[in-house]
Amino acid sequence: MKNIRRVQEQRSRGEENHPCTLAPLHPCTDAPLHPCSPAPLHERGGERLLQLDAERLRSDFDRKPFVIGHALAHHPLFDLARLVELARNLPEECVEYNAGDIPVNMDPKQTPHTGLSVEETIRRIENCRSWMVLKFVEQTAEYRSLLDQCLDEVQTLTEPITPGMCRREGFIFITSPGSVTPYHLDPEHNFLLQIRGKKTVNIFDMEDRSLLSEEELENRINAKHRNMVFREEFQEKAEVFELTPGMGLHFPVTAPHWVKNGDEVSISFSITFRTSASERRSCVHTFNSYMRSRGLSPRPFGRSRLRDSTKYFAFRAVRRVRRLMGAL
Ligand SMILES: [Fe+2]
Repeated sequence: MKNIRRVQEQRSRGEENHPCTLAPLHPCTDAPLHPCSPAPLHERGGERLLQLDAERLRSDFDRKPFVIGHALAHHPLFDLARLVELARNLPEECVEYNAGDIPVNMDPKQTPHTGLSVEETIRRIENCRSWMVLKFVEQTAEYRSLLDQCLDEVQTLTEPITPGMCRREGFIFITSPGSVTPYHLDPEHNFLLQIRGKKTVNIFDMEDRSLLSEEELENRINAKHRNMVFREEFQEKAEVFELTPGMGLHFPVTAPHWVKNGDEVSISFSITFRTSASERRSCVHTFNSYMRSRGLSPRPFGRSRLRDSTKYFAFRAVRRVRRLMGAL
């Protein structure tokens, strides 16, 4: 509980950081750059949980989606009874749930609710047609340990590709048969591990500006709700993955996607993190979004290293001043 309180306090100060406070802070987010340096597996006393292909990561990490394997399909932390316990221990704002039989195009403000409690929703998940996510499960020790074990394995391979893993965060999705996760994008590096049931993931090229305009990307990357408008003609551009227990899928940062469950209950564990580069990019998108709101036309991220650096340092400076003002 002490740790949960500390995370809540950090969030209330706008610092959605990993609980490890001793690590050096990232200049953009104030998140620890290396919250948990990867410990050798033998020291963690466990066998490998993920089957990662080093060559595949080298060629496709954060560029294209790809499938991995994992050994969590029968892990006791994903039993429904344990998930009820986890939901009870998480702060209220970290448990989100609603009706699951919704369209791909769903305005978050219009999302229907079920009238059930959190506990009833999990216990009756087979028949209650619900969609639920338990957020930031690393606030609970056993789940943090599992997340760290998985991400230590990932970090060993991603550090030479894109260094500075930070903000390790875990999400557990518990969804009824046929539930839909509407079309949206996420700002984190993500591996979605399918634990129980089947899921069809429709994922799209994040560089295709006919699907995702620069302006929408900038607006969505730091928005609370990241659902986007989906048009039927987009579907022919989808790359479709059928996930079954033991499979996982890598999502490149900001790749739009929507998801549909199979005919049974689905449980998935999303292991996410940021890196120095992804945080820097996020700062530039946020800066551009602000410029557009003032009627300007900023150059998109990635076109000019000099301009991106200038925006990044300007963003940091403005934020520091705002924080200092807030502290006075
Ligand atoms: Fe997502």
